[in-house]
Amino acid sequence: DIELFIFDLDGVITDTAEYHYLAWKELCDDKGLLFNREVNEKLRGVSRLDSIKIIMEYNKKDDVSEIELIEWATEKNERYKQLIQKVTPNDLIEGITEIFNRLKNKNIKIALGSASKNAKAVIKNLGIEEIFDFIGDGYSVDKSKPAPDLFLYVAKNLNISPGKCVVVEDALAGIEAAKSAGMLGVAIGKKEDFKKADFVYNKIKDINLDEILK
Ligand code: BG6
Ligand code: MG
Repeated sequence: DIELFIFDLDGVITDTAEYHYLAWKELCDDKGLLFNREVNEKLRGVSRLDSIKIIMEYNKKDDVSEIELIEWATEKNERYKQLIQKVTPNDLIEGITEIFNRLKNKNIKIALGSASKNAKAVIKNLGIEEIFDFIGDGYSVDKSKPAPDLFLYVAKNLNISPGKCVVVEDALAGIEAAKSAGMLGVAIGKKEDFKKADFVYNKIKDINLDEILK
């Protein structure tokens, strides 16, 4: 039986993916780098430093030092932190509160499994800090998604075996992480993008809990 649901944050609980896009776009415009929505899609679920590396690859730039990359990633983060100040409970994705409530009613635990170091600030602004039985964020483990480490860390802290966990993700890296952790992977997006997922729903509000819990 399922005992724990682990939710990704950006793109699952709230659409901060848009703020990540805006922050990267501003940085890239500043540095004369190419950036667009297609590249941004590749950054879903990917850590901050890996994200700047993907942007460099896209720009065919291999002459930027690691120190400079860290500086640029830090600049992006300063912009991102400004943007998430505007997040309010109105920014919760449609249907997510209902899912939280239904899981609570079934005594299924709820955890956060986000790669973001800003996760705690975002959930505070969303007003949902109290909902989580455990929070795993960008500070929890060294190896980021697609490594299973974060989800395994979350499950271990709640003393629940991976086979009893469900992960909800909008990123390919996140579904890969869930599957290598031995958990059920629920993807939010298009079916053809998530071959490895156990269930795929277009939007959070389309999730069929009975189907997952069967
Ligand atoms: C993930 C986002 O949740 O967190 C990525 O999908 C982001 O786009 C990553 O790069 C790291 O976030 P942060 O806030 O630590 O830069
Ligand atoms: Mg995400």
